[in-house]
Amino acid sequence: MAASALSCLAVAAQIRVSTPSTEMVIDAPEGRHLKILYFGSALTDTDFGYIRDAGFNGVDAYPAYGMRCPAEAAFAATYPDGNMSTDLRVESWSQKTEEGSQLTEVLLKDTVYPLTVKVCWRAYMDVDMIETWTEIENLGKKPVTLTRFDSGFLPVRRGQVWLSHLSGTWANEGQLVQEPLLPGVKMIKNKDGVRNSHTAHSEVMFSLDGRPQENSGRVIGAALCYSGNYELRIDTDDTDWHSFFAGINPDNSAYVLASKEVFRTPELALTYSDEGLSGASRNFHRWARSHRIAHGDRLRKILLNSWEGVYFDINEPGMDQMMADIASMGGELFVMDDGWFGVKYPRLTDNCALGDWQVDTKKLPGGVPGLVECAKKHGVKFGIWIEPEMTNTVSELYEKHPDWVIKAPQRDPVTGRGGTQLVLDLGNPAVQDFVFRIVDDIMTENSEIDYIKWDANMAIMNHGSQYLPKDRQSHMYIEYHRGFAKVCDRIRAKYPDITIQACASGGGRANYGVMPWFDEFWVSDNTDALQRVYMQWGTSYFFPAIAMASHISAAPNHQTFRTIPMKFRIDVAMSGRLGMEIQPKNMTPEEIALCRNAIEEYKMIRPVVQFGDIYRLVSPYDGLDMASMMYCSADKSQAVFYWWKLETFCDQHFPKVRMAGLDPDRLYRVRELNRIDNVLLPYEGKAFSGKFLMENGLEIPYRHIVDYHLQNDWSSRVLYLEAE
Ligand code: DGJ
Repeated sequence: MAASALSCLAVAAQIRVSTPSTEMVIDAPEGRHLKILYFGSALTDTDFGYIRDAGFNGVDAYPAYGMRCPAEAAFAATYPDGNMSTDLRVESWSQKTEEGSQLTEVLLKDTVYPLTVKVCWRAYMDVDMIETWTEIENLGKKPVTLTRFDSGFLPVRRGQVWLSHLSGTWANEGQLVQEPLLPGVKMIKNKDGVRNSHTAHSEVMFSLDGRPQENSGRVIGAALCYSGNYELRIDTDDTDWHSFFAGINPDNSAYVLASKEVFRTPELALTYSDEGLSGASRNFHRWARSHRIAHGDRLRKILLNSWEGVYFDINEPGMDQMMADIASMGGELFVMDDGWFGVKYPRLTDNCALGDWQVDTKKLPGGVPGLVECAKKHGVKFGIWIEPEMTNTVSELYEKHPDWVIKAPQRDPVTGRGGTQLVLDLGNPAVQDFVFRIVDDIMTENSEIDYIKWDANMAIMNHGSQYLPKDRQSHMYIEYHRGFAKVCDRIRAKYPDITIQACASGGGRANYGVMPWFDEFWVSDNTDALQRVYMQWGTSYFFPAIAMASHISAAPNHQTFRTIPMKFRIDVAMSGRLGMEIQPKNMTPEEIALCRNAIEEYKMIRPVVQFGDIYRLVSPYDGLDMASMMYCSADKSQAVFYWWKLETFCDQHFPKVRMAGLDPDRLYRVRELNRIDNVLLPYEGKAFSGKFLMENGLEIPYRHIVDYHLQNDWSSRVLYLEAE
């Protein structure tokens, strides 16, 4: 609705920011402070009219430091005369509809200095998500230094509020942490410079009704959509509110805003659900598929990636054999990982050649075009690995352009992987052109390449841009990610259809800041199926299965050395975007047969897994030695149920798992997928009402009924439910 239409109403300053089932109410009285009055489920007109009479007059929606601000602030600046205080008042506001969303903008202006902050909210009309960000403009003649510039702020009413968030490390990403919010500041942050989701993630959920529940209770979800360093703060002080702030990490990143320059902060996406944590996840997943990840409406191909199969041992016969093998199992795509390039310095291991993106013709005499032809012969698509933001000191690129790396003046660079790796300075336009050309050259030579695995294996370990002037060194992190965005924009403008995976030493780029350009991410370099249950569980809080690359790998596993039977490895990988990360020629005929069958069955359930609604049922983090979840199609006509046993003891007693998300009035016929047992489950082929399945569930046998010599301590089930 236009601002002018609303301005004549008695509640003129109260603005409704609405999605189908949720809304935020803000108060924007001219000349006063902007306030947030409400965030939750959609209000009736009556309740909206009386919103202030419920007893809450709102809190500052974008608290600025220096005036009446003894607590945390979302914004802080130092003006040319040294003044460190800001006082932002409402100047004007507007609301309009554009491209399936409602955009609300409130312009705030400092009472003394020529600085404005536009606070923006985009509310989607098809999904329950509101994105908020700010646009800070220096209208003065002299630069203003920004020392804090959060994307957004949200007050969360105190009570029994619990926080769910992800932590971890390389090979153990996406670990779920749940804790009550207590007085003090809870900070979640990243300072890697390049990758930002190995350790903490920039997404959180607040359970408002005590200990978090998956399928009941009110939940607020928040995701900061930024590819670089971030900081999320929850300040619980002497007020009735947990004050939540999220934005670019301002540490070592003070930003000098030039005259007439506008600084746009990244989006903070906010959602609300009264259907528990899984409800908030469904909101994130729907928004992601419709608005936030590349090709969210396109089914993903089943692929074999060469990394754990051959590592750097790339050669033509080997690639041909792997392509033939994945094709014979029903796969649709083959991806050649690291080790294919380097002429002067062949990439035989991880210590050279990044930046030298010419094929090593000793390994691959027919070059990449030869491999693309080979893939065609086998009836699969071809994909390729690159790590374009990096170089090695041992590379032709570094010999030619030592000035392109991130490095502190006067100091020797601190190197990363292989003892020689360095990060290129993406803030430098020449480097941006170079990185764009890496992709452009590969695609020009091989227009039929279908998939790129884009890796990034180093943190920024040296503060220093050789491109930026001395007095702008604090812009280095921000300019790096602006450069990254510019390159990605150029690639997507020219190659809109190619599938691109965000990989960064495993799960270092599972973040909505990168997903608009990327179709998916590599969840972790750890492919151990048991540990993947935990990592994928946590990651599913915020990211849909369509984006979570989940591969069947070898036993013993290359990271944990755990030996897990193929059945369990398949049943875990099939809960995400299924792929393989293995040398097929080392697999037994029985394993090949299981995988061939799994790929065929996955093709049947793929739309339910990749486009469906998630319902997490029993958490692996609850210490019950098992985990269970399911996906239901949007029309509730199909569902896939997963059950994994995580420990084995005699005299174990697992809870019977009640299903969720089904239509209580429909009958669902049950079929076990990836079956290995000698006998059918008692309910195989039988139909039960959704009501029965959701109230009672089905008894899942604790072990598989197989020949004695095939018995082991692992057990898992995948059930496909189809409505009659
Ligand atoms: C790190 C990635 O996470 C792996 O999957 C693999 O691509 C290697 N890099 C290759 O060097």
